[in-house]
Amino acid sequence: MRSSDLDTQRRHFLLGAAAVAAQTVSAQSGDRTTTAIIGTGNRGSYLLTAVRDQPNMKVSALCDIKPDRLDKAATAAAKDNPNTYTDWRKIIDRKDIEAVVVATPPHLHSQMAIAALQSGKHVYCEKPIGISPEQVKALVAAAKASKKVFVSGQQLRSMKQYVELVRQIREGVIGSLLMVKAQRQANADLPHDGTSGDWYFDVTKSGGYLVEQSVHNLDLCNWVIGQHPLRACGFGSITLYKNAPPGRTIFDNGSLTYDYPGGLHMTFTQNVFHPRGLPMPNQAIHVFGEKGAIELMGQTPPTMYPMAREAKPLVLVEKQQEYQHAHMKGFVECIRNSGPNPADITIGATAALTAIMGHRAMATGKVVNWTELGVLL
Ligand SMILES: NC(=O)c1ccc[n+]([C@@H]2O[C@H](COP(=O)([O-])OP(=O)(O)OC[C@H]3O[C@@H](n4cnc5c(N)ncnc54)[C@H](O)[C@@H]3O)[C@@H](O)[C@H]2O)c1
Repeated sequence: MRSSDLDTQRRHFLLGAAAVAAQTVSAQSGDRTTTAIIGTGNRGSYLLTAVRDQPNMKVSALCDIKPDRLDKAATAAAKDNPNTYTDWRKIIDRKDIEAVVVATPPHLHSQMAIAALQSGKHVYCEKPIGISPEQVKALVAAAKASKKVFVSGQQLRSMKQYVELVRQIREGVIGSLLMVKAQRQANADLPHDGTSGDWYFDVTKSGGYLVEQSVHNLDLCNWVIGQHPLRACGFGSITLYKNAPPGRTIFDNGSLTYDYPGGLHMTFTQNVFHPRGLPMPNQAIHVFGEKGAIELMGQTPPTMYPMAREAKPLVLVEKQQEYQHAHMKGFVECIRNSGPNPADITIGATAALTAIMGHRAMATGKVVNWTELGVLL
């Protein structure tokens, strides 16, 4: 008996016969994009709710190597009666699956997304899309060769608030940009014995804090600036969590400077020991321009502080009602030709490479040039 059959039996046992019978009926109905999720951990199960929330998507298959997570996801998707697998290649082999969501640990993204694209599937790939230039390069080639939709999980791109802010910055609300100051500081380390503890603290699996987490913040900076950096320098270290958890290879803090075209610099700091009471936000982006500065992240609503001494702060975007699954909605709309790609391969690759370049600079203490990464976008 194949492992997938075994998995399906276990799930049916958990759900009970009545629930399975009900699922079978609903699974036969409708013109919905058949979707599989590979990796049903924290993020994968959240994305499962996002898929479930789309009337034109159907959860057709689930895959995880951890049976408890697979069972939980199968129960959450019961109305769609998905098949369950522990071997992700079985999903790739399924001709009837149209779209794949990749939500495994970062070092697996590139190979899984490439295999899915090459087998003719649309792909929603969690960030970072790769943790090395080689992984990113291979995925860029596969996505460009494919006629299918590739969306990277840089979901800030689907937030109305940021779309509007970037529009105003492009239209010159603070004039030419002069410099950017950004940070991502956490109140604590991820739990050392938590569910992601088996990969997160290993730099060969997560890429490190900058690559795994700050990739969102770096993407937002690139988006605001409208370019990718040309080079990076900085330092990173482990000052608090030395060998904790045992074997730890990711930094717990770092400081970087990115150099963009035209002499614009972006400084970025990160740490995992930002006290809750410290009177500054954990995550912040300050964009300085000729006419003033914007506090763009860390304060709601985003506000501009004009350069002129008497001028009052100006709220640029009122608080927006954001649909929490807007990025998945964008993915399926793009598949169905009813909307643009919310974060295509160039966006995903640029974000990942910016983070990889920064991590490499911190790890070596040397200036790292974008061209050294060897990826043409
Ligand atoms: N976009 C966001 O805001 C956001 C938020 C959280 C996490 N993420 C990303 O999502 C990804 C997963 O993070 P997470 O927090 O869910 O981690 P997690 O550890 O909770 O989940 C990962 C899952 O992948 C499974 N897995 C590992 N190897 C596998 C394999 N070979 N085949 C199938 N399944 C496999 C694990 O068993 C686990 O259940 C990471 O890349 C992370 O950066 C994105």
